Amino acid sequence: MASSDTTDPAFAHLLTYIEDSLAFQTSSYNDAYLDRRISARMRRRRVDEYEAYEELLRDDEEEQQALLDALSVNVTSFFRNPDVWEALRDVLRDLSSRGGRRDPITVWSAACSDGREAYSLAMLAHDDDQVDERRIEIVGTDIKREILRAARRGEYHASETNDLAEQLEPIGDWERYIDRDGDVFQVKDKLTDMVRFKRRDLIREDPPGTFDLVVCRNLFIYINAESKRAVFETLGSALETGGYLTIGMTETIPPECRDQFDPVEKRLRIYSASDAAAQR
Ligand SMILES: C[S@@+](CC[C@H](N)C(=O)[O-])C[C@H]1O[C@@H](n2cnc3c(N)ncnc32)[C@H](O)[C@@H]1O
Repeated sequence: MASSDTTDPAFAHLLTYIEDSLAFQTSSYNDAYLDRRISARMRRRRVDEYEAYEELLRDDEEEQQALLDALSVNVTSFFRNPDVWEALRDVLRDLSSRGGRRDPITVWSAACSDGREAYSLAMLAHDDDQVDERRIEIVGTDIKREILRAARRGEYHASETNDLAEQLEPIGDWERYIDRDGDVFQVKDKLTDMVRFKRRDLIREDPPGTFDLVVCRNLFIYINAESKRAVFETLGSALETGGYLTIGMTETIPPECRDQFDPVEKRLRIYSASDAAAQR
């Protein structure tokens, strides 16, 4: 059995090695999450101690890559948590009722992984006749370049554990937006044309603009309290007056950042920029 004790000095030593030599910022993530991922790799390699695993890692480039892959959680889907998407439809309708017919509605899918969240937003805009999709401008950002390349391609492969047709069910007639050839699903140009993908580190960098809707889901579950605060500061500063923020269904806003956001649909984690935020 691999030892699993995040207070073990060898664990801290291993994290420092990963941060300094493999360029993965362990200091931004929470220890329990890092330990789960590292211990899984240790079990795979039948190593019991952090120290022995660090030794192995130093000499084994394949294991370095396998660990980096294990540490990046890119799990996503189209219309993840369908209830949220029904509420986001109302958000897009509300934003559409504001401003002039040609005013852009800006949307940010922050930590967008392979882009399915950003394309879900684009489909929702097309699907709703109260929303003019020509007004919608979507930016998708993630820290990982490789995943952004996949997002730009907009090509997804179905598998037993990735039932894309089922994920797309909430939109009904999804073949209007995606070409299917067996297990390969290719997002059509009318969606890819609506989304720009850029690399951004949400913990350390400024937002890529200001937005009417910011969707940042399922990142906070992995990062530590300090990084969480930094990301909420960034998201808050990116919201237009009266703009909306959505976070993951199991995520919460840290108490010290709550005055910036008013709950709109608390259970679904949809908030609007508060008056306190506007005064900053
Ligand atoms: C679990 S995925 C969430 C994808 C999508 N938002 C969803 O809910 O389905 C988390 C994403 O956060 C990205 N990520 C991790 N750390 C980040 C950081 N510091 N800045 C930006 N993105 C980050 C990962 O690369 C990954 O694609």
